[in-house]
Amino acid sequence: MDFGAFVVLAALAVDCASGAVIPSPKTLVSRNYDASNPYANWPSYEQLPLHPSFPSKAAWGVWGADDVNGALNHITNATILAASQEIKLGKAFNLNLELDIPDPPINPSRKPLSHLYQPGSGYTDDVIVMNTQISTQYDGLRHFPYSTNGNVSTYQWYNDLISDYDEVIGPSPSTVLGIQQAAQKGIAGRGVLLDYAGWAEAHNITVNAFTNQSISVADLDNVAAWQGLDASWARPGDILFVRTGWVQAYNNLTKREQQVLPLRSDEDSKHIGILASDESGAWFWEKKLALVGADNPAFEAIPFAGTFGGDERSFHQIFIGGWGQSIVEFLDLEALAKTLHRLGRSTFFLTIQNLNVVSGIASPPNALAII
Ligand SMILES: *[C@@H]1O[C@H](CO)[C@@H](O)[C@H](O)[C@H]1NC(C)=O
Ligand SMILES: *[C@@H]1O[C@H](CO)[C@@H](O)[C@H](O)[C@H]1NC(C)=O
Ligand SMILES: *[C@@H]1O[C@H](CO)[C@@H](O)[C@H](O)[C@H]1NC(C)=O
Ligand SMILES: *[C@@H]1O[C@H](CO)[C@@H](O)[C@H](O)[C@H]1NC(C)=O
Ligand SMILES: *[C@@H]1O[C@H](CO)[C@@H](O)[C@H](O)[C@H]1NC(C)=O
Repeated sequence: MDFGAFVVLAALAVDCASGAVIPSPKTLVSRNYDASNPYANWPSYEQLPLHPSFPSKAAWGVWGADDVNGALNHITNATILAASQEIKLGKAFNLNLELDIPDPPINPSRKPLSHLYQPGSGYTDDVIVMNTQISTQYDGLRHFPYSTNGNVSTYQWYNDLISDYDEVIGPSPSTVLGIQQAAQKGIAGRGVLLDYAGWAEAHNITVNAFTNQSISVADLDNVAAWQGLDASWARPGDILFVRTGWVQAYNNLTKREQQVLPLRSDEDSKHIGILASDESGAWFWEKKLALVGADNPAFEAIPFAGTFGGDERSFHQIFIGGWGQSIVEFLDLEALAKTLHRLGRSTFFLTIQNLNVVSGIASPPNALAII
């Protein structure tokens, strides 16, 4: 690989005993990133990672060696201003499920929402305690490191900014990559909805939401064409949401069926989602998206079964640990999809406001679409 286009920032240390200069194990390679011309030297998917010591397909160094915002760097004042053109009718849509839905949580190891009331004198309060992964959620950059088989000693976080698991879940966590950074950055832009479930219904393709039915990027291209989008629909800073049909299928279940859904054996515990592969990875990378999301539990199909750059990896590892790109899950896209379809539209203005929790790992996204 030719590194001519990139700047090598070798962090050097001096060995006190010998006085010799030894390269630090955290030698970082970074792109010569200039905010006024962000896509000069933009690496192709094939060029990732920028250094062979970085994990598979990581985008470490692409926004600079110390960058903490990852794919949110695609959002600029210009992309937000351009996205404001999407507001044509002034109609707003909540994209968040009720905070205790799915009920019970899909992953049975996650505790359900606790919602208590606390009386005051002349006022009333309530108290909410929740695992941020149980309902509509924005996975922050502390949620998913690279790992080999989930082994803690192999964890690697975005841009190698966290070296120790204890920094994330210990009693005095560090703050780098905390959800407060996404909260303070301000997330707004053009949302694009690809309605896979709507396309599938129109083409007699069955959506089996509670299987690992895997949606390929060729499928997504077909959905886009069906919606009337041309092949170059993506603009840098776009936020892509995919409607897989999972929430619709969940809403179709009886209460009893919803209660037993999390109780399937590990072997049967499957969910529809995007196919995790290099072909998908290249498709997403080239679009320069700020964020992706879907109406299903993990964006990608469960169980995770991806191969990237020859290694067994999930999209969670590549996106969050590798690109600093968050994922929004369990979105409620039902009403928005119906209205966009009726209007022949695919795009909308979108805002996301994460909770400003220092060292936080994930958050309800408080996602709002305006058309
Ligand atoms: C956008 O932000 C950049 C960098 O902060 C600034 O230089 C530029 O003037 C801004 N443009 C507009 C239209 O506000
Ligand atoms: C975890 O990874 C480390 C380092 O690669 C290895 O030494 C250890 O045996 C692994 N532990 C398990 C339980 O796989
Ligand atoms: C869709 O499937 C139904 C039932 O299998 C069949 O009757 C119908 O002809 C199919 N429609 C199309 C457009 O393929
Ligand atoms: C679905 O999961 C099964 C077993 O868990 C696996 O054999 C199959 O390849 C998976 N299908 C896809 C499309 O990933
Ligand atoms: C859910 O129910 C609706 C209305 O009965 C039906 O049109 C749709 O196909 C169902 N969807 C799924 C994914 O089961």
